[in-house]
Amino acid sequence: MLKKLVLFVVLLFCLKSFANDGYKLWLQYDYIKNENLRSEYQAATSNLMSFGTSETIKIALKELELGLNGMLGSGYKSASNNSVLIFGNKTNLSDDILQKLGNSFTEINDEGYIITSFFLKEKNHIVISGKTDAGVLYGVFNFLKHIQTQKSIKTLNIKDSPKIDIRVLNHWDNLDRTVERGYSGFSIWDWHRLPDYLDPRYTDYARANASIGINGTVLNNVNANALILTPQYLDKVEALANVFRPYGIKVYLTARFSAPIEIGGLETADPYNKDVIQWWAEKTKEIYERIPDFGGYLVKANSEGQPGPQNYDRNHVDGANMLATALEPYNGVVMWRAFVYSEHDVTDRAKQAYSEFVPYDGQFKDNVLVQVKNGPIDFQPHEPFHPMFGAMPKTPLMMEFQITQEYLGQSTHSIYLPKQYEEILNSDTYRKGKGSTVAKVIDGSLHDKKLTGIAGVSNIGNDMNWTGNPMLQANWYGYGRLAWNPYLSAEDIAEDWLRSTFSNDKRFIEPVKKMMMTTTEAVVNYMTPFGLHHIMATGHHYGPGPWVSNLSRPEWNPVYYHKADSLGVGFDRTPTGSHATEQYAPEVAKKFNDLKSISDEDLLWFHHVAWDYKMKNGKTLWNNMALKYQEGVDQVKQMMETWENIEPFVDEQRYNNIKMLLEIQYKEAKWWRDACLLYFQEYSNMPLPESVEKPSQTLDYFQSLSFPFAPGN
Ligand code: GCU
Repeated sequence: MLKKLVLFVVLLFCLKSFANDGYKLWLQYDYIKNENLRSEYQAATSNLMSFGTSETIKIALKELELGLNGMLGSGYKSASNNSVLIFGNKTNLSDDILQKLGNSFTEINDEGYIITSFFLKEKNHIVISGKTDAGVLYGVFNFLKHIQTQKSIKTLNIKDSPKIDIRVLNHWDNLDRTVERGYSGFSIWDWHRLPDYLDPRYTDYARANASIGINGTVLNNVNANALILTPQYLDKVEALANVFRPYGIKVYLTARFSAPIEIGGLETADPYNKDVIQWWAEKTKEIYERIPDFGGYLVKANSEGQPGPQNYDRNHVDGANMLATALEPYNGVVMWRAFVYSEHDVTDRAKQAYSEFVPYDGQFKDNVLVQVKNGPIDFQPHEPFHPMFGAMPKTPLMMEFQITQEYLGQSTHSIYLPKQYEEILNSDTYRKGKGSTVAKVIDGSLHDKKLTGIAGVSNIGNDMNWTGNPMLQANWYGYGRLAWNPYLSAEDIAEDWLRSTFSNDKRFIEPVKKMMMTTTEAVVNYMTPFGLHHIMATGHHYGPGPWVSNLSRPEWNPVYYHKADSLGVGFDRTPTGSHATEQYAPEVAKKFNDLKSISDEDLLWFHHVAWDYKMKNGKTLWNNMALKYQEGVDQVKQMMETWENIEPFVDEQRYNNIKMLLEIQYKEAKWWRDACLLYFQEYSNMPLPESVEKPSQTLDYFQSLSFPFAPGN
């Protein structure tokens, strides 16, 4: 015991730095204490030579200097002069270097990079290059990541390119700086002081995004205010675009469909009306005059009260193609969202996007992408993949993930979302036989698509640590990495993130990585096990509300989704119910339809199951449900313990920050367990298994809780 204590104290003093507010994200560039490694890196990097004069190349040089000074110490440059690190794009490199690179450039695309080492003219060379300066910058960040994660750089032969073209963040940020479903403070866009005041955070934001390959940002909420398209606001947008440009980041805007009425003085926004068509053409021209590399428009139309072409008896194709025509001369794109559902459709909300969009396959213009949420309802802790993936072979489908945690404990709960993203990306749609994964739909390889994209609803705000909880920086990071390459493993990404953000010490990495990999399962267990979904409280979605049944639209009520009664629980979406499974390929539908083949985690999403139904493990559904809720709580307890054990490896500030948040998560996991089990028990009429802790309060108590100022609404 004493020995353990001494070791702990020694470690605490050797390893610990005390204050770190997390602002530097995964770009900590901590000093490398291992001398052998440090001298290997020093020898290879002491002479930096940049080729090219663009802002992007200057940024690359600055980043290398910052990173190397931090990791190797400020005097590192004098170490050696028989090595050179060269970076610049293909057109700026000398012939002898190009000769050494051979045909490497044919193996990368315009944003790709090469990092390679060779011996030339008595010197060791490392060359970082690409076809564009943006490619070089990505290469530089990846080279620095190599050092941050303490990999050898003795022999380098890396060629890497993004597999998806458009890799954007979607900010649900309003012009008054509130953020819809944002839990990390206010919007980072200080609209009031733009364009004259350029908060240094804008540059840091761009830099962080570039470091993980994100190349675009939609600045404003999908529930848009048309004012963003007025000259007053375009001035501000232009200023941001100018900051982001050298980092390879394009700006996009959400376009409110009724803008021609609201700010254009027209009486209609009918996409067939010639004045409307003209208005959008002129507005688009005005934007491109200011921002020549403007990315295009994101549109939420005829969804949750937003205006759209259906207001004029037109359809999604009419609306999207009208905007696409305006953008076409400038190579801009339309990202048209498929998140639609109507209170008048009595079938099943989960079916509506597919029913509405799939018949339009092949009718959208070439510069339209249809943006589809990962699952058919709405960013739940667990959803099966959206049936539209793979079902529109002639239309580019963009993935929309939610990085912000609207339904997953907001920014309090430490959940590592790339694990969830990976699961969706690896799901097999079977649309072109076995192996037709969602990742192949998104990267265009399944149906040979020219235009590809992915969006992540941002979890960024003006909190000092950007994401309201330092652990959730991993979700921004992991989203970017998967957007670049949707085939990466979530576990490898977690390791890179931990090494770059906290420590390279195995005693830290292994337990924390293991912890991160259990978090998505834990949240499903303590919130919505076995395919339960949308049982959160009304409006803010904070906490449990499975009892809610009085909202005006049926599909806003949790009872619509779980359908608990004395016989059982779950939504029958098989051919005996809503037929939603028919929207999947026959192989997938067959698996979902059959109680024997469906996975436990999808069970109640697709079936109404008797409380005493014997599941695969031989226990009843009720007992399993109760045990799962308990397991979720136990998993959070385990997370707390893991975190406490790694205290010596983390600075005090971030350590305490995460520790307190985990304690809240534990409290809230118990709240979820107790409230849900008490509620469902009213239907099951069965006792809780022995090993499940007794609820601390009554159901009435949980139902009486209210949170009038919960954030993010
Ligand atoms: C959810 C969310 C809304 C958001 C919507 C969307 O319903 O609660 O705040 O606007 O998704 O994605 O459009």
